[in-house]
Amino acid sequence: MIEPTRAQQLIAESAAILKKDAPLQTRLQQLMQHLHDQLPHYHWVGIYWLEGDTLVLGPYVGPPTEHTRIPVGRGVCGTAVAENANQIVEDVRLRENYLACNLETRSEIVVLIRHPETGAIIGQIDVDGTEVGAFDQSDEAFLTAIAQQIAASLPVEGAVSVGKIKP
Ligand code: SME
Repeated sequence: MIEPTRAQQLIAESAAILKKDAPLQTRLQQLMQHLHDQLPHYHWVGIYWLEGDTLVLGPYVGPPTEHTRIPVGRGVCGTAVAENANQIVEDVRLRENYLACNLETRSEIVVLIRHPETGAIIGQIDVDGTEVGAFDQSDEAFLTAIAQQIAASLPVEGAVSVGKIKP
């Protein structure tokens, strides 16, 4: 749950971070850190990039995870791609197709990052919370705005070269 005014502030701050004169990886890492630090229910927050039929872990903040590569269809992350749909999981203990990153996690949200023009899935923002039901549609709307900013900040040529955006 995130208040609309707080979401607007953070969206503006995110734009400022992404506009900085720094390498993309640095800006994305700073953005993950900012979301983690500003939103107490964002216990683990990170980006997975879709490369072929595998999700590859990018910048993240939170406890280390062994899930650095996730096949499409596996876990909450892989399901989001397979179903072409964001995921909000109230209680991960009730979900069969779930990959545990750390034992404290109780809820999770995955919001897809899409190509600004084609809508193709480029990656996703994944957030874990330690409370049951930590995330709702307000988080989904907020993270969708952040995902759009991230997609727009990927330089097309650079993104093409690393397989993030198809020309
Ligand atoms: N829980 C995810 C795996 C990624 S970690 O949460 C960082 C899943 O089920 O796909």
